Amino acid sequence: MELTATAPVASASRHARHDTYRNIHKALRALMFDTLARIGRVDIEDREDLDATLARLDRLLAHLRSHVAHENEFIHAAIEARRPSAAQTTAGQHVEHLASIAALADEAQALRAAAVDQRPPLALRLYRHLALFIAENLEHMHFEETTNNATLWALYSDAELDEIHGRLVAHLDPRILTEVLGWMAAALNPQELAELVIGMQREAPPEAMRAALAEIRPRLDERCWARLARAIGLPPAPGLVEA
Ligand SMILES: [Fe+2]
Repeated sequence: MELTATAPVASASRHARHDTYRNIHKALRALMFDTLARIGRVDIEDREDLDATLARLDRLLAHLRSHVAHENEFIHAAIEARRPSAAQTTAGQHVEHLASIAALADEAQALRAAAVDQRPPLALRLYRHLALFIAENLEHMHFEETTNNATLWALYSDAELDEIHGRLVAHLDPRILTEVLGWMAAALNPQELAELVIGMQREAPPEAMRAALAEIRPRLDERCWARLARAIGLPPAPGLVEA
């Protein structure tokens, strides 16, 4: 994609509409970049490091499969229900993504099973192919955040979009949901994270909130945690000083 002055820009500050994609796509970008960097630096002579790195890749691929499935089932279905064929572009890209995800899983398995002296080219192949997949995904997500969001906003009210998103989240595997929360904490800005957690506080029981905050806290430095704690009405831990 060539970025020009006329390229579509997704700006949360220009509108107050419900943005189905913003938080999860920020989380997925952070997860993809972090995983790519880990594969780039993996010690292929260290079985433990190799296994841990490939286990992380397995989790990334699980997240991406889940993401495609849920966008198909809830978001694309909503678009198609009121504007037939309007989700075709990204639905077609999802088919290609699932094939790429399967190919990356095969490459990871080949690396996992290889003898030490066979690993260098396999590790480099996996790193480069994951990078290319991420590049495609970045353009895909931008299209969703601009074109698909414009379609959703034309077809649905914010209350309806909130309801669709709620059904999608309720359908997520608990492990995926927990891990996503951690990546959102790492990826969102303070205002977005506070908005997310305050929304959860309105609906989640206390024990679920405690578990959620336990997932979030290790992903924030002391200053960011203190800022979030103030925003959601919790006292920051003793000794934490907010700038
Ligand atoms: Fe998508």
